[in-house]
Amino acid sequence: MKTMRTFSDLVDRIPSPNREFQTATAVIKIRSSQTADLLNMAHIAILGLGNWGTAVARMWLLEGHKVKGWTIEQEVYESVVMDGINKKYLPNHSVEGLEATMRLDEALDGVEIVVLAIPSSVILDVVDEVIPHLRPGHVLIDLAKGLAPGKRLISQAIHEKLDAAQMTNPLAVVTGPTIAPEAAGGVITTALVASEDESVAKRLAETLTTQTFILHAASDPVGAELWGAFKNVIALTCGLVDGLKKVGTLGGDNLKAAIFMAGFKEGCLLLPQLGAKAEVAFGPAGLGDLYVTATSPYGRNRSMGEKLGTGLSLDEALGEMTMVAEGVRAARMFITRADDEGIKVPFTKAINTLLDGEITAEECCRRIVGLN
Ligand SMILES: NC(=O)c1ccc[n+]([C@@H]2O[C@H](COP(=O)([O-])OP(=O)(O)OC[C@H]3O[C@@H](n4cnc5c(N)ncnc54)[C@H](O)[C@@H]3O)[C@@H](O)[C@H]2O)c1
Repeated sequence: MKTMRTFSDLVDRIPSPNREFQTATAVIKIRSSQTADLLNMAHIAILGLGNWGTAVARMWLLEGHKVKGWTIEQEVYESVVMDGINKKYLPNHSVEGLEATMRLDEALDGVEIVVLAIPSSVILDVVDEVIPHLRPGHVLIDLAKGLAPGKRLISQAIHEKLDAAQMTNPLAVVTGPTIAPEAAGGVITTALVASEDESVAKRLAETLTTQTFILHAASDPVGAELWGAFKNVIALTCGLVDGLKKVGTLGGDNLKAAIFMAGFKEGCLLLPQLGAKAEVAFGPAGLGDLYVTATSPYGRNRSMGEKLGTGLSLDEALGEMTMVAEGVRAARMFITRADDEGIKVPFTKAINTLLDGEITAEECCRRIVGLN
């Protein structure tokens, strides 16, 4: 049974005047000296109440944590406040107790953990908005992953922004086989929480693990993030097979397995050259996340690929998506990065050529299955 004791209770014991500055590390040190019964209620702000942000909010609310959610969408704000539900993104699950706000300063006030649940395409803009409201005690968790402009990962770009603002807040990345509606519905779900400072990852894993959301600590955020992004490229390509299956006889599990395997192999060769530890490929952030994203009917990158596989153009397929499919952006960024480094990536090249409208889904799959 968890004792209802807040992060702040523990922080209050840190002598001033450096209390704020010491908060993050001190919480970790103090808490590591406590026994399990001190594991407690955390105060969490979730920035972005989309699919995943709302799902994690629900899981942590059910565990007894205090959770605030920040959204820029009036309709989401109203539905959470009035009905205790996020009708737009997670209509079948209650988020009773979630304190919604449309003001960033309100969201960050009084919390210790700040979760960035924002698509990778806009997360750095949101970080710029967040920084003026950050206190040194805020621990940041990034749920988006991928390559940011300038050859950096999103987490590295966030670190750079913090450095520029002379802030030293700890940052962790969470990634794994986590389809939001399943996690929200109570399916046992695992993920990796990775931070350069492994003690931060361990404390977060201990605090934020719930009955059904099991977090494992790791110290390779780069590897976790690279796989988190690259698996979307593979899932997008696997989706082509589902599209081909809808419109003819070429698509099926035999072909999907071949595409899956070729994509996994390319990831195993490419990502270590970009900085991932090789073993990440075989954990929740690698093979685990890849499996679920490429096969689950909920997977949005797979769904996007399915639309392309039926013969829709990129613009037509994007027009039919209500949620962001990050695999398209990731495919573009990985090819640029591989070209810059002089690394051959025939799998990634084939899907990019399809996205450019130069080949059909069938030709894309044929190029991939023809690889040695
Ligand atoms: N959905 C999942 O199953 C899942 C699982 C694991 C990780 N993720 C990752 O979590 C992140 C969020 O994904 P999601 O599924 O919740 O996305 P989503 O598309 O469902 O929701 C995105 C949210 O970001 C907000 N947003 C968009 N632009 C914004 C801006 N400029 N300023 C502020 N807010 C903005 C939207 O209002 C919305 O609340 C992504 O990086 C995704 O890869 C998603």
